Amino acid sequence: MAAIDHPMQKLVDAEHGTVSREIFCNQDIYDQEMDQVFKRSWLFVGHESQIPKPGDFILSRMGEEAVIVTRDRQNQIHVLLNSCRHRGNLVCRYDQGNSTVFTCTFHGWSYDSTGTLVALPYHDGGYNEMPKGDWGLLPARVETFQGSIWATWDHTAPSFIDYLGGAELYLATQLKNTDGTDNGAEVLGGIVKWRLGCNWKVPCPDTDTTHGWITHKSMALALGVGPTGNPVRPDDGRSISTRQVRPRYTVSFPEGHTMGVTIPEEGDPSWADSGIWSDKPVVRESLREKFEQRKKRMGVMAHLSVGPAIFPNEGWLGRVVRIMHPQGPLMTEIWTYFFVDKDAPTEVKDALGSYYEHWYGPGGMTQQDDMENWYTLTISSKGPMARKLDLNYQMRLSEPPLHGPSTFGLPGLFAHNYSDENHRRFYQRWAEYMEAKDWGELRVREPAK
Ligand code: FES
Ligand SMILES: [Fe+2]
Repeated sequence: MAAIDHPMQKLVDAEHGTVSREIFCNQDIYDQEMDQVFKRSWLFVGHESQIPKPGDFILSRMGEEAVIVTRDRQNQIHVLLNSCRHRGNLVCRYDQGNSTVFTCTFHGWSYDSTGTLVALPYHDGGYNEMPKGDWGLLPARVETFQGSIWATWDHTAPSFIDYLGGAELYLATQLKNTDGTDNGAEVLGGIVKWRLGCNWKVPCPDTDTTHGWITHKSMALALGVGPTGNPVRPDDGRSISTRQVRPRYTVSFPEGHTMGVTIPEEGDPSWADSGIWSDKPVVRESLREKFEQRKKRMGVMAHLSVGPAIFPNEGWLGRVVRIMHPQGPLMTEIWTYFFVDKDAPTEVKDALGSYYEHWYGPGGMTQQDDMENWYTLTISSKGPMARKLDLNYQMRLSEPPLHGPSTFGLPGLFAHNYSDENHRRFYQRWAEYMEAKDWGELRVREPAK
């Protein structure tokens, strides 16, 4: 692979709205971003509902590396590097389970749910000089937010709330119960995982509002077939969500978080009232009833429609989370989590699970279309001629953000719905991580008091 021969400003030129293709295929740049982006950022590693009981654990990823997310006997959550301190073997090979001890299969070193080394064969007489306390699994720093679990390796990073920089309002919207109560969601079933031959940044951020009309033209739009079997656009003229009813904006934060936001307004129809659930009255009525409670609790904010993408590799599509795990410059493992209300009836959970699978599973109606483009743009961009050509992110480049923070009483910088502003913000933040020596140079505001 070619060495990096450009300063970061040349690779990501925010002023002119161009990005070098090198950042999607160069091994040196990839190695640097594993070190400077993924080791410093807060990363989504799972949700508390996946480990409800003491001793529960799941496997997850932070960048390329595998971590074990555990709940110890005192109900504390830990995120531990899945690498034995003896000779580096995996200490956990199961995707999930319940165990208070993880025993390495090579020589039998054993660790508890806090990562502490608790037993090792031949210790007596063999390792008398070794302080066991120094040889536990490497722990990450952990915070939870509305049930979601986040971790970072960087102990100088700001708190997770400061890292969100105001985007917490949007993230909370996704993690609340439909009735508006806090921490009301759970992960439905297992995580859907697949590998795709593209760089991890290609699907991030996923607020490319100008691709859907052609990328997803065939099934969802031209045929008018939705994943429930009902038309995507019902006969009453209202569409699948409120997004076509109210003006929608791209919204970004200096911290690199990006999303599409529909300004909430009284009287907007809820998801329950769209045509999707017309032949599933149990689902429709359950969602309707909860939405009425949501309005009582949240007022007009009950109508907020948003799909936040938290820098660097987490993004929401509806109530689905996708994590783009890097696996080398030209390979990404996409993990998809489906969220439902904890207290939803089984019939509602099943219907939503089927709906999500049909939209966002690897064979789903939209993901396979996206994946085809993400893969072919990768192979057509990495050759010696193609990789010298910059990518274009110039849409509405000269247009200042439409609205500054709080114009709508909502945080973030608002730009036109059809704009590359979110992409420019994402890559600019990425370049800042790549250049910054430490978190002192990355902070965008003072810590909250
Ligand atoms: S590598 Fe784990 S016990 Fe030896
Ligand atoms: Fe898409």
